[in-house]
Amino acid sequence: MNNEISRRRTFAIVAHPDAGKTSLTEKLLLFGGQIQVAGAVKSNKIRKTATSDWMDIEKQRGISVTTSVMEFDYHDYKINILDTPGHQDFAEDTYRTLTAVDSVIIVIDGAKGVEAQTLKLMEVCRMRNTPVIIFVNKMDRETKDPFDLLDELEDQLQISVRPLSWPIDNGARFKGVYNIYEQRLNLFQPSKQVVTEKVEVDIHTEELESHIGNKQAEQLRADLDLLEGVYPEFDPQAYLDGHLAPVFFGSALNNFGVQELLDCFVEIAPCPRPVQALERMVQPDEQKFTGFIFKITANIDPNHRSCIAFCKICSGRFTRNTPYLHIRHNKQIRFTSPVQFMAQRKSTVDEAWAGDIIGLPDNGTFKIGDTLTEGEILHFRGLPSFSPEMFKYIENDDPMKQKQLAKGIDQLMDEGVAQLFVNQFNQRKIIGTVGQLQFEVIQYRLLNEYNAKCRWEPVHLYKACWIESDDPVELDNFMKRKYQYMAKDREGRDVFLADSNYVLQMAQSDFKHIKFHFTSEF
Ligand code: G4P
Repeated sequence: MNNEISRRRTFAIVAHPDAGKTSLTEKLLLFGGQIQVAGAVKSNKIRKTATSDWMDIEKQRGISVTTSVMEFDYHDYKINILDTPGHQDFAEDTYRTLTAVDSVIIVIDGAKGVEAQTLKLMEVCRMRNTPVIIFVNKMDRETKDPFDLLDELEDQLQISVRPLSWPIDNGARFKGVYNIYEQRLNLFQPSKQVVTEKVEVDIHTEELESHIGNKQAEQLRADLDLLEGVYPEFDPQAYLDGHLAPVFFGSALNNFGVQELLDCFVEIAPCPRPVQALERMVQPDEQKFTGFIFKITANIDPNHRSCIAFCKICSGRFTRNTPYLHIRHNKQIRFTSPVQFMAQRKSTVDEAWAGDIIGLPDNGTFKIGDTLTEGEILHFRGLPSFSPEMFKYIENDDPMKQKQLAKGIDQLMDEGVAQLFVNQFNQRKIIGTVGQLQFEVIQYRLLNEYNAKCRWEPVHLYKACWIESDDPVELDNFMKRKYQYMAKDREGRDVFLADSNYVLQMAQSDFKHIKFHFTSEF
């Protein structure tokens, strides 16, 4: 059992849109032998051939809305990659996925450096001390100076960095990367299609000059000297603790620097880590199975209207057809056809281990965050919801379909498609999202899956803050004063819906004993 668990590497690749997440995923699949030839890498190509061509709306728009899982073997390792939505309107989905991984690879565009979404993603990793590796992509284009990039990463992402590979020039002159971790230079032929032959070069001999020319050889040696002077030895423990990010450079599109990343990744990245439940810490090598649902997707197969609930196994071994306890329903459930996901197909799984992700067919039994065990009462710790950025009243547009609408909203919220607040003043339902596209997905899915018609009405709000206080009198005062802006979330917690930054700041300074939280996890 220990062997099964220690060979697993479950991680997500995340990035600001367009940095090259898809291209990198595709190259990793190539190395894993899951796909033989990459298509001309198109931003949604892999998602199309892989697993997530699930929703019509995706097809129409070419946007990957859902998270998929890809697993493959590489040497002795079992790799589980959790793909995340490519569109930032679905960022909340990505954050949730990060609760199910043991480490993360962040892709950065070498020309653009740290972008808005990168900052947010790093913030989520920091909340959970998730180990992070950074891949600086697109070195085949004119990029920022790599030393400047390292400073920028350290500065903006607030994490120490340590390069483990180093680019030989960039743009048209880009020759490849030196593997600092293994102290080896492999020169690959650039190829968008396949993993190509590599040539091993000893950089301490003239062989280097013969491959990359005098000027670049000199530059590489000087850069490496400087690096060794500036950066301390790579400390694997600091990486595992989430304090230090190893940095790799390359070009995912041309397959430069990807094998260096992968080989080092499997060695240093953590195998499944202990997971904190409300009751206790759960160790992956415990005999008994435990797991939680971090994601629910609809319409995987458009011919069958069932959902798939993605379960991260936290400990032990899951077996098909065994009854497990669904904690929230206090009910034993037996899964007859759990699935696992390979790059291009899904298949029934008979057993799976801590670290693995399995798909459980679901007809509304699951809600994000649900826990499954062999009988022990456990609740895995919350999955953070951030304050939404956009808010709208949701109204019924077909009086005959009131019930369908209510059911649809309920189930979509269980899936975590958006957040629902009920205004306590007028009892109207407010949906909060990260972006406009989510409203469209909700409207589309309500109609297609629940036969319910909704209409959006504007509501001017700035942020939702979860409030709490040790001072019941002050809390009561606040809620009376702001009664028009008080709402409940689905767990019945008090939420203040501030209509502007100014109002929020005033509230914070007038009510010193009230804590305003911007995420639901506190
Ligand atoms: P994403 O999933 O993070 O959104 O990024 P994706 O891999 O889809 O890449 C975004 C764009 O960047 C794509 O171009 C892709 O070809 C390009 N790209 C990715 N890696 C590299 C690289 O290492 N070097 C260069 N020069 N470009 C790279 P596109 O124009 O959107 O698509 P396509 O027409 O090229 O397929």
